[in-house]
Amino acid sequence: MREGTAPLVRREDYTAPAFWIKTVDLTFDLDPAKTLVINKMTVEPNPGQPGAALRLDGEDITLTRVLVDGEPVTFRTEDQQLVLENLPQQPFTLEIRNTCAPEKNTQLSGLYTSGGGFFTQCEALGFRRITYFLDRPDVMATFRVTLKADKRKYPVLLSNGNLVEEGDLGNGRHTAVWEDPHPKPSYLFALVAADLVRREQRIVTREGKEHLLQIYVRAGDLDKTEHAMNSLIASIVWDEHKYGLSLDLERFMIVAVSDFNMGAMENKGLNIFNTKFVLANPNTATDVDFGNVESVVAHEYFHNWTGNRITCRDWFQLSLKEGLTVFRDQQFSQDMSGSLSARAVKRIEDVRTLRQLQFPEDAGPMAHPVRPDSYMAIDNFYTATVYEKGAEVVRMMHTLVGDAGFVKGMDLYFSRHDGHAVTCDDFAQAIADANPESELAKRLDQFKRWYSQAGTPRVQAHGVYDAENRIYTLTLTQTCAPTAGQPEKAPAVIPVAMGLVGMDGRQINLHLEGRLDPIGHNTVLVLSEPSQTFTFVHVPVEPVPSLLRGFSAPVVLETELGDDALFALLSHDHDPFNRWEAGQKLALRRILSAVHGNGHIELDARFIDAMRGVLRHPELDAAFKELVLTLPSEAYVAEQLDVVDPQRIHTAREGIKLQLARALHTDWEWAYESNHDTGAYSPDAVSSGRRALANLALSMLVLDAQVRHNQVWPGKALQRFKDATNMTDRLGALAALVNAHSDLAAGALERFHAQFKNEALVIDKWFTLQVTAPEHEGKVFARAKALMQHPDFTLRTPNRARSLLMALCQSNPAAFHRTDAAGYVFWADRVIEVDAINPQLAARLARAMDHWRRLAEPYRTAACEALKRVAVRTELSDDVREIVTRALQD
Ligand code: TRP
Ligand code: ZN
Repeated sequence: MREGTAPLVRREDYTAPAFWIKTVDLTFDLDPAKTLVINKMTVEPNPGQPGAALRLDGEDITLTRVLVDGEPVTFRTEDQQLVLENLPQQPFTLEIRNTCAPEKNTQLSGLYTSGGGFFTQCEALGFRRITYFLDRPDVMATFRVTLKADKRKYPVLLSNGNLVEEGDLGNGRHTAVWEDPHPKPSYLFALVAADLVRREQRIVTREGKEHLLQIYVRAGDLDKTEHAMNSLIASIVWDEHKYGLSLDLERFMIVAVSDFNMGAMENKGLNIFNTKFVLANPNTATDVDFGNVESVVAHEYFHNWTGNRITCRDWFQLSLKEGLTVFRDQQFSQDMSGSLSARAVKRIEDVRTLRQLQFPEDAGPMAHPVRPDSYMAIDNFYTATVYEKGAEVVRMMHTLVGDAGFVKGMDLYFSRHDGHAVTCDDFAQAIADANPESELAKRLDQFKRWYSQAGTPRVQAHGVYDAENRIYTLTLTQTCAPTAGQPEKAPAVIPVAMGLVGMDGRQINLHLEGRLDPIGHNTVLVLSEPSQTFTFVHVPVEPVPSLLRGFSAPVVLETELGDDALFALLSHDHDPFNRWEAGQKLALRRILSAVHGNGHIELDARFIDAMRGVLRHPELDAAFKELVLTLPSEAYVAEQLDVVDPQRIHTAREGIKLQLARALHTDWEWAYESNHDTGAYSPDAVSSGRRALANLALSMLVLDAQVRHNQVWPGKALQRFKDATNMTDRLGALAALVNAHSDLAAGALERFHAQFKNEALVIDKWFTLQVTAPEHEGKVFARAKALMQHPDFTLRTPNRARSLLMALCQSNPAAFHRTDAAGYVFWADRVIEVDAINPQLAARLARAMDHWRRLAEPYRTAACEALKRVAVRTELSDDVREIVTRALQD
């Protein structure tokens, strides 16, 4: 933490380093209070910058000696850099000795302690907190690492690569030496020294190579590692099969740690995971957790090629590895899910995340391009834009070149850039060059605006049917609102997957004017002008356009479709994504008219019947039904409004939910009974979909009973809660009671806590559940404040802090946005408190106020005051300072 403001780092200022570091030999004498680091490097001057000074980054470490070619030299330290001048013009060795204090490292960046062990986190700028280095991703070196530590306390000593030596040092200490043959940037360095147990498995790949896979966890967690191991093996098989990319290491390790800022980290050969994304068994983890473990394990594994073998030239290129790797993990999870319907469910979930996190980001003060132009703290740019929108950009390329073309593009990308640090331009160029005839290659420069322009484009669709000539003309128009620093936007290349559907549900054969042959029921229109008209001929009946199928571009689509057309799509569209979308649009319309009215509307029978039709449908999968019958979130509703009154949105949405609960009462009963499984637990798509629908039904039944003062369904929920044989059902039943504010909730919560008091990840759920309940007379907010005093609560473990703070401030708008401003006062106090411990975490929490300008009064003024209270403090991390300054800028 320091005073004043860090300067902005700008993409256009990139220059190659003045020196290269080729090899690193690190020795760690591990001690929680004072760890000694000996760092011997071979350094080569960059001939392009002769005579330049060597500036090594270092932060919160104590320097004890510097030797060049074995001789002491003069040096100076300057603003967190060690500066060496008059260095040899040929390769030389540089030895640095320094110490650091892992147990004092509460920011969890660099070398820190957790649960009595040592762990590292070096992305993005953590390595400089371990030793002085050229801490930038374009400097790649081979590492040899010697670890020395107490044998009893730290029996397991791990680092990247291969174990080459182990030994006893006497005095109760031992050592291990690791060598990583692959040159890597410092952000991929890792070490672990701790008391851990492991699950391991040997596998043989198609080429006949043997590999050792290991998952390290604390004693007691071994029974939660099977799913992660299965996911890892499936990822290895998939990447080999889909992209021809095989594991390039003899040994691949995953280590679980309870204190971690993000999800997981792809360190070469030694992935370090937040326990939340590796540990899972049916008793402690829900279906959603199982899905997350599968996709995060895959994500980190896929980074071995897209991120580690080919890395980023500078941090502005972050989406080069993150967008691409998210796209790959999404593809993988879809392939793992089985049926077509399950694939659509996964796509819908991904789009829901994008809309809930990325669209608001793109419309607020933190709006930035997928490849940002400047930052104060890079940790603030591990965002939904870089990850999720970045993945959508890769997906659009995939759509424009086709699946086989994309695989060819990936091949070319690896043959050109393997072993190098490159840019987003290099990636797009490789995909285009491998597909010279594609729409992508034809418009590559324009397509790349997706990397440089922030903001969500809006596409308007206008269709006219000429019955006499059987012609349908579709006009698509695109616009994009200005964002900070980008007043003017140029048109993007937008692939619009589409089809035409008759009101009766028939799929119309598409025949574009000027083309000889019809093109089937599906096509991709490419919108690249501000406005374009597409003419379809031989259209037998007035069609309903089904546009942006599968959500083929990250845009907001405005259609002029009336309810009739939307009901037709909901019951007939062959594209499951658009079927779901039509249902959401119908629900959204009704919620919005309640928001605009007096907070209440009477649901029309047609909507209720349509929802019943989906719920009772004999062919649709349970998972899909659950998605259709879940109303758009309060955050998504807020997205549609220029002035946001969170209380009004809450009242409107809750009112409609209650009507659905009541009107479909017997249908919910049927859905609950008919999706109740009792067999052995399996996290597959079909079973988890059935549980999701049964749990939704149960929550609707309990909600309705609560309002009617009927105890039958709350009683059944309590019974299910007690009898459940897996966490999904147990938590589902508990949530039904808690969310309906049932009298039975308190006892159930107590019982749940007693049963799982030793399972940290389950206790996190216990906190979250209580603070995300629908607000009712201020009770939820009061409970959140009280829970801060609970003996299990701590701000020092990010998972625990998030389980209460993020859950309340980000995920429960009606509890957070209060007319008395108490939520904002609470927020400001916590941001300041957490910032002194962990700036990265504090900055995430700070973002809860991003959208303050769109709030209605009295929220807006009160939110602004709270932001200013934080912003005026002199003691503030760069991370939080950047967020609050941007929020207040106009
Ligand atoms: N590269 C990691 C991923 O996406 C992200 C990550 C893990 C990270 N830990 C971090 C980013 C700490 C910033 C700071 O898989
Ligand atoms: Zn990643």
